[in-house]
Amino acid sequence: MTRILAIETSCDETAAAVIVDGRYIHSNVVASQIELHRRYGGVFPEVASRQHVLSIVPVIEEALAQAGLGWAELDAIAVTEGPGLAGSLLVGVNAAKGLAFMRGLPLVAVNHLEGHVYSNWLVPQTLSAEARTMHPVSDPPNSSFSVQPSSFPILVLIVSGGHTELVLMEDHGRYCRLGGTLDDAAGEAFDKAARLLGLPYPGGPMVQRAAQGGDPARFALPRGLMSPETAATHRYNFSFSGLKTAVLRLIREQQASLGDAAWPEGYAGTIARQAEDVGAETDDERRKVQMIRDIAASLQTAVADVLVSKTLLAAADYGARHVCVCGGVAANGELRRQLAQRMALPYSIPPIWLCTDNAAMIGAAAHYRFAAGLLAGRDLDVKARWPLRSW
Ligand code: KG4
Ligand code: ZN
Repeated sequence: MTRILAIETSCDETAAAVIVDGRYIHSNVVASQIELHRRYGGVFPEVASRQHVLSIVPVIEEALAQAGLGWAELDAIAVTEGPGLAGSLLVGVNAAKGLAFMRGLPLVAVNHLEGHVYSNWLVPQTLSAEARTMHPVSDPPNSSFSVQPSSFPILVLIVSGGHTELVLMEDHGRYCRLGGTLDDAAGEAFDKAARLLGLPYPGGPMVQRAAQGGDPARFALPRGLMSPETAATHRYNFSFSGLKTAVLRLIREQQASLGDAAWPEGYAGTIARQAEDVGAETDDERRKVQMIRDIAASLQTAVADVLVSKTLLAAADYGARHVCVCGGVAANGELRRQLAQRMALPYSIPPIWLCTDNAAMIGAAAHYRFAAGLLAGRDLDVKARWPLRSW
């Protein structure tokens, strides 16, 4: 049995978890900084690293307490080495190094993207009763959820705030990158469009909320690199930057036709706060609120359509036996709906709370590196940029 304490601080979540044998979640603690960054409309790097400094010790203590473990019962300490915000990564790496040195434990350095991939190996039902109170299990238990050893080759779609990648995984630690975004990541497209719509940070969940009751077919938004001409050279690549231009153009057109300079800001906030009753009083207001809902629904449908189409294509081309979808955008309901509808192969997608950044996934990835004897030295530094590579 291998017990790993994992630490993740690559962006704006301070997280620690105890993972057993790369699959079983004995604890999973995430201190979110969302409220702190909301006033800036995005992650403010220096504020993020300072908050990590404040949260890191209590979060680690809580993870150990929830797992009911002492230091002597751990086999290793794992930490995210990159990619991410350098100042944020440093807090986690320094904490992990100090603890490993003091307790005489091996140190394992993990790539954050590899962590997202391994979120699919976790068995969420193993979360302890105490930890479960922090994650109201909204996802129904799914016995076919986590990946089995016989699943290789696996086609992996990583969709987060900074990355959109299609990767063929031939075995543990064996990655072949098939393609990725040429400009904005899928999460970035959500975040930028949300800002244009006047929706607060974080953009993805807000777009999803605004899309409730929206007509996804009302506006035909661009599907980047899907035309026959571009698909030939960019079969597994993505482009999402055209979406924000299209959304901006739509907003301007609608603003002009509705004759309200205050739109969309005046209505979007209402939508974000109230999922059901938006409190629109007049017909005119209702029309404007509906417009935002329709743009949001059209946007998430367009993004999900491209992601699922290219994933299906790559999986068929490479004879994948299983598909894994992961990263913050994998939390999106429309993406999950389209996957369920269109995917013929066995596939896995983590519950929402394991899609966005967490340390459980870092512990899962670390398990395989640790088993292969890949340990970090005392000179471990952070890597702000670090593509997913085979080891
Ligand atoms: O993986 P993640 O937590 O952090 C990174 O490694 O980037 O992903 C964050 C991204 C953000 O762009 C956020 O807007 C997006 O995931 N996201 C969503 C949803 N929840 C988070 N996008 C669409 N729908 C969601 N429900
Ligand atoms: Zn992430």
